[in-house]
Amino acid sequence: MAQSLIRPVIEEIPTTQSVWPAGFERVPDEEWTRQDPDEFGLKYDEVDQHGWYKNLEPTVAQVLTCLDENEILLDYSGGTGILGRRILPRIQHPAGILIADTSPKFLRVAMENFRDDERVAFRLIRWLKDQKRLQSIDEVLDPSLLDRKVDVLTSTNAIHLYYNLEETLQAWHRVLRPGGHVLVSSGNLINPRSRKGEWIIDETVRHINEIAIEVVRQEPAFEQYRAVLDDPTRMDAHRRLREKVFVPVRPLDFYLRSFEETGFTVLDVFEMTIFAGVEEWAQLLRTYHDGALSWVGGSEKVEGQAPSADALRDRLFLIRYALEKLFTGRDEFECCWTYITCQRRGWRQWAGR
Ligand SMILES: C[S@@+](CC[C@H](N)C(=O)[O-])C[C@H]1O[C@@H](n2cnc3c(N)ncnc32)[C@H](O)[C@@H]1O
Repeated sequence: MAQSLIRPVIEEIPTTQSVWPAGFERVPDEEWTRQDPDEFGLKYDEVDQHGWYKNLEPTVAQVLTCLDENEILLDYSGGTGILGRRILPRIQHPAGILIADTSPKFLRVAMENFRDDERVAFRLIRWLKDQKRLQSIDEVLDPSLLDRKVDVLTSTNAIHLYYNLEETLQAWHRVLRPGGHVLVSSGNLINPRSRKGEWIIDETVRHINEIAIEVVRQEPAFEQYRAVLDDPTRMDAHRRLREKVFVPVRPLDFYLRSFEETGFTVLDVFEMTIFAGVEEWAQLLRTYHDGALSWVGGSEKVEGQAPSADALRDRLFLIRYALEKLFTGRDEFECCWTYITCQRRGWRQWAGR
């Protein structure tokens, strides 16, 4: 009875009414959209099921609070669209999410997840080889959207990867409307308010490497991987590869200053303890094994050759074994996640247009 009273109201909510500018293509006619979904992207998408992906909950609540009717959210570095998957079922009014990412493999999975949802659009941020830089987001968005601007911008679990933070934030400033909110989260920055015993999640990889080096040096079964340990040039190349994926952490203050200097006001910073399951983290490291422990067996990106099947098995074993030694007898470990909320300055001028 109660349901039949409620249903007509829900059905009247025009959630499919388009918020996109006229002529805007949700799915661009580009090569990556015609590829099959890739296994690496599909594997990453599984983190949605991991306990440590509770880290998205504060951002989900923030978006649901500030994304108004007919507004557009730009999910920058949106990956496979996990944030969108959590937000969209809860939005009862017309709104749009534009997922922009640098990885065609991740974006392709996002497309698979939301292909028929008119509220979701996709844009690839390309690496400009000749200029050795990523496109800025205003080079990626259509002129009609640049004119309209987006209303809210999220970046979850990614800001620590931006090697050119200031340029990235300047571009965000150009595409976000004045007064619009930026909602950022990361488990990979140095927060002076983190609690004792909390990990910076990617720092575990440095420890895994140290443990693996010790094991390889001591255990005859891994003798074949010792030569590379005594080759500083190769080890350095492997370290550089590792640090591309698990980037060295920067302090919170660096991010706050960068926001303030690029035209944003930092409204709030808070942190949360997130519990990461050892088994789930091991699963993610299996997906990123080449970034985590490439010197075991070598890498196409360093030696020009992928590891043999045997070496890959040893690498995966060493990752798991090192994790076990790091967190002996524990099912999970505590991590500190930091949330930064900013507002684009200049809203007074905008309101008076
Ligand atoms: C850990 S994933 C997070 C994805 C998604 N936001 C989430 O929370 O599941 C990091 C994302 O950042 C993207 N990324 C990596 N380097 C980047 C860069 N320099 N600029 C922008 N995005 C980048 C990756 O392609 C990936 O989708």
